[in-house]
Amino acid sequence: MYPFREGSFAVRNGWYVAAFRNELGRDLLARTILNQPVVLYRKEDGEAVAVGGRCPHRHFPLGKSCLKGDAIVCGYHGIAFGADGRCVDIPSQDVVPRAYKIPTYPLVEHGLWAWIWMGDADKADVALLPDLEEIGVTAAGMTARPFMCRRCKGATSCSTTICSTCRTLPSSTPAASARWKMRRRLKNWSSAPDF
Ligand code: FES
Repeated sequence: MYPFREGSFAVRNGWYVAAFRNELGRDLLARTILNQPVVLYRKEDGEAVAVGGRCPHRHFPLGKSCLKGDAIVCGYHGIAFGADGRCVDIPSQDVVPRAYKIPTYPLVEHGLWAWIWMGDADKADVALLPDLEEIGVTAAGMTARPFMCRRCKGATSCSTTICSTCRTLPSSTPAASARWKMRRRLKNWSSAPDF
Protein backbone atom coordinates (compact mmCIF):
# COMPACT_ATOMS: atom_id res chain seq x y z
CA MET A 1 0.00 0.00 0.00
CA TYR A 2 1.34 3.45 -0.90
CA PRO A 3 3.69 4.86 0.37
CA PHE A 4 4.98 1.64 1.91
CA ARG A 5 6.80 -1.05 0.04
CA GLU A 6 5.60 -4.55 0.57
CA GLY A 7 6.93 -5.76 3.91
CA SER A 8 7.91 -2.25 4.97
CA PHE A 9 6.48 -0.52 8.04
CA ALA A 10 7.78 2.98 7.36
CA VAL A 11 8.29 5.43 4.54
CA ARG A 12 11.68 4.73 2.99
CA ASN A 13 11.99 7.72 0.70
CA GLY A 14 12.69 10.32 3.36
CA TRP A 15 15.53 11.60 5.52
CA TYR A 16 16.08 9.99 8.91
CA VAL A 17 18.55 11.04 11.59
CA ALA A 18 21.21 8.34 11.68
CA ALA A 19 23.56 9.81 14.28
CA PHE A 20 24.95 12.98 15.77
CA ARG A 21 27.69 14.31 13.51
CA ASN A 22 30.21 14.18 16.33
CA GLU A 23 29.60 10.44 16.71
CA LEU A 24 31.04 9.83 13.25
CA GLY A 25 34.74 9.20 12.98
CA ARG A 26 37.23 6.55 11.99
CA ASP A 27 35.56 4.00 14.29
CA LEU A 28 32.76 2.03 12.68
CA LEU A 29 29.36 2.98 14.09
CA ALA A 30 26.69 0.29 13.73
CA ARG A 31 23.01 1.30 13.68
CA THR A 32 19.75 -0.38 12.75
CA ILE A 33 17.58 1.97 10.71
CA LEU A 34 14.20 0.90 9.33
CA ASN A 35 15.15 -2.63 10.34
CA GLN A 36 18.28 -2.50 8.16
CA PRO A 37 21.76 -2.89 9.62
CA VAL A 38 23.86 0.11 8.66
CA VAL A 39 27.46 1.13 9.34
CA LEU A 40 28.53 4.77 9.45
CA TYR A 41 32.07 6.16 9.35
CA ARG A 42 34.23 8.91 7.94
CA LYS A 43 36.56 8.36 5.03
CA GLU A 44 40.16 9.52 5.29
CA ASP A 45 39.19 12.81 3.64
CA GLY A 46 36.54 13.38 6.36
CA GLU A 47 33.48 12.61 4.24
CA ALA A 48 30.80 10.73 6.20
CA VAL A 49 29.39 7.62 4.51
CA ALA A 50 26.79 4.95 5.25
CA VAL A 51 26.93 1.39 3.96
CA GLY A 52 25.04 -1.84 4.63
CA GLY A 53 25.93 -3.47 7.93
CA ARG A 54 26.06 -7.16 6.92
CA CYS A 55 28.77 -8.91 4.95
CA PRO A 56 27.20 -10.66 1.94
CA HIS A 57 29.52 -13.63 2.43
CA ARG A 58 28.41 -15.07 5.78
CA HIS A 59 26.45 -12.12 7.17
CA PHE A 60 29.10 -11.09 9.67
CA PRO A 61 28.20 -7.68 11.23
CA LEU A 62 30.44 -5.18 9.47
CA GLY A 63 30.14 -2.81 12.43
CA LYS A 64 32.36 -5.29 14.30
CA SER A 65 34.98 -5.23 11.57
CA CYS A 66 37.71 -2.67 10.90
CA LEU A 67 38.75 0.01 8.46
CA LYS A 68 41.72 -0.17 6.14
CA GLY A 69 41.98 3.16 4.37
CA ASP A 70 38.41 3.87 3.25
CA ALA A 71 37.46 0.19 2.99
CA ILE A 72 35.77 -2.00 5.61
CA VAL A 73 37.58 -5.29 6.08
CA CYS A 74 35.13 -7.93 7.27
CA GLY A 75 36.16 -9.37 10.63
CA TYR A 76 35.32 -12.95 9.63
CA HIS A 77 37.20 -13.88 6.42
CA GLY A 78 38.72 -10.52 5.51
CA ILE A 79 36.75 -9.55 2.41
CA ALA A 80 37.03 -5.77 1.96
CA PHE A 81 34.38 -3.34 0.69
CA GLY A 82 35.03 0.25 -0.35
CA ALA A 83 32.94 3.25 0.68
CA ASP A 84 31.08 2.92 -2.64
CA GLY A 85 29.99 -0.57 -1.55
CA ARG A 86 32.13 -2.42 -4.12
CA CYS A 87 34.19 -5.39 -3.05
CA VAL A 88 37.85 -4.37 -3.35
CA ASP A 89 39.66 -7.40 -2.01
CA ILE A 90 39.03 -11.09 -1.41
CA PRO A 91 41.94 -12.77 0.38
CA SER A 92 43.39 -15.76 -1.49
CA GLN A 93 41.62 -14.75 -4.69
CA ASP A 94 43.00 -12.60 -7.52
CA VAL A 95 39.71 -11.86 -9.21
CA VAL A 96 37.07 -9.77 -7.45
CA PRO A 97 33.57 -10.16 -8.94
CA ARG A 98 32.22 -6.73 -9.90
CA ALA A 99 28.73 -7.65 -8.77
CA TYR A 100 29.87 -8.46 -5.24
CA LYS A 101 28.94 -5.43 -3.15
CA ILE A 102 27.14 -4.09 -0.12
CA PRO A 103 24.41 -1.42 -0.22
CA THR A 104 25.29 2.25 0.21
CA TYR A 105 22.98 4.99 1.42
CA PRO A 106 23.03 8.76 0.82
CA LEU A 107 24.20 10.50 4.01
CA VAL A 108 24.13 14.28 4.55
CA GLU A 109 25.44 16.29 7.49
CA HIS A 110 22.89 18.95 8.36
CA GLY A 111 22.78 20.80 11.67
CA LEU A 112 23.98 18.61 14.53
CA TRP A 113 22.98 15.43 12.74
CA ALA A 114 23.87 13.05 9.95
CA TRP A 115 20.74 12.27 7.90
CA ILE A 116 20.34 9.05 5.98
CA TRP A 117 18.07 8.21 3.03
CA MET A 118 17.11 4.51 3.13
CA GLY A 119 14.95 4.50 0.01
CA ASP A 120 15.73 5.00 -3.68
CA ALA A 121 19.05 6.83 -3.86
CA ASP A 122 18.11 8.71 -7.02
CA LYS A 123 15.19 10.29 -5.15
CA ALA A 124 17.35 11.61 -2.28
CA ASP A 125 16.88 15.37 -2.38
CA VAL A 126 18.66 17.65 0.10
CA ALA A 127 15.87 20.20 -0.40
CA LEU A 128 13.66 17.80 1.61
CA LEU A 129 15.85 18.09 4.70
CA PRO A 130 14.08 20.00 7.48
CA ASP A 131 14.74 23.71 7.76
CA LEU A 132 16.70 23.99 11.01
CA GLU A 133 15.32 27.44 11.82
CA GLU A 134 11.79 26.26 11.21
CA ILE A 135 12.16 23.39 13.68
CA GLY A 136 13.92 25.68 16.17
CA VAL A 137 17.30 24.01 16.58
CA THR A 138 19.61 26.83 15.60
CA ALA A 139 20.08 28.36 19.07
CA ALA A 140 23.63 29.47 19.78
CA GLY A 141 25.59 27.03 21.93
CA MET A 142 23.47 24.03 21.01
CA THR A 143 25.65 20.93 21.14
CA ALA A 144 25.16 17.21 20.74
CA ARG A 145 25.35 15.33 24.02
CA PRO A 146 24.87 11.63 24.65
CA PHE A 147 22.10 10.43 26.94
CA MET A 148 23.21 10.12 30.54
CA CYS A 149 22.40 7.09 32.64
CA ARG A 150 20.58 8.43 35.69
CA ARG A 151 21.70 5.50 37.76
CA CYS A 152 25.47 5.67 37.34
CA LYS A 153 25.78 9.01 35.48
CA GLY A 154 27.62 7.20 32.68
CA ALA A 155 27.19 8.34 29.08
CA THR A 156 25.38 6.05 26.71
CA SER A 157 24.56 6.64 23.06
CA CYS A 158 20.93 5.59 23.11
CA SER A 159 18.22 5.88 25.78
CA THR A 160 16.80 2.48 24.92
CA THR A 161 19.94 0.38 25.28
CA ILE A 162 21.42 -1.10 28.41
CA CYS A 163 23.90 1.31 29.99
CA SER A 164 27.37 0.06 29.11
CA THR A 165 28.68 1.14 32.52
CA CYS A 166 26.15 -0.16 35.06
CA ARG A 167 24.27 -2.63 32.79
CA THR A 168 20.82 -1.18 33.53
CA LEU A 169 18.31 0.48 31.25
CA PRO A 170 19.03 4.22 31.40
CA SER A 171 16.04 6.38 32.29
CA SER A 172 15.70 9.64 30.44
CA THR A 173 12.96 11.16 32.62
CA PRO A 174 12.05 11.06 36.34
CA ALA A 175 8.83 9.22 35.46
CA ALA A 176 10.77 6.58 33.53
CA SER A 177 13.20 6.32 36.42
CA ALA A 178 10.32 5.76 38.88
CA ARG A 179 8.81 3.11 36.59
CA TRP A 180 12.18 1.35 36.36
CA LYS A 181 12.54 1.35 40.18
CA MET A 182 8.99 0.03 40.63
CA ARG A 183 9.60 -2.76 38.10
CA ARG A 184 12.81 -3.73 39.89
CA ARG A 185 11.04 -3.72 43.30
CA LEU A 186 8.24 -5.93 41.96
CA LYS A 187 10.78 -8.28 40.39
CA ASN A 188 12.70 -8.60 43.68
CA TRP A 189 9.45 -9.04 45.53
CA SER A 190 8.17 -11.83 43.30
CA SER A 191 11.49 -13.66 43.51
CA ALA A 192 11.78 -13.26 47.32
CA PRO A 193 11.66 -16.52 49.31
CA ASP A 194 8.28 -17.30 50.89
CA PHE A 195 8.68 -17.38 54.73
S1 FES B 1 31.57 -13.24 6.48
FE1 FES B 1 32.56 -11.48 5.76
S2 FES B 1 34.21 -12.25 4.68
FE2 FES B 1 33.18 -14.01 5.28
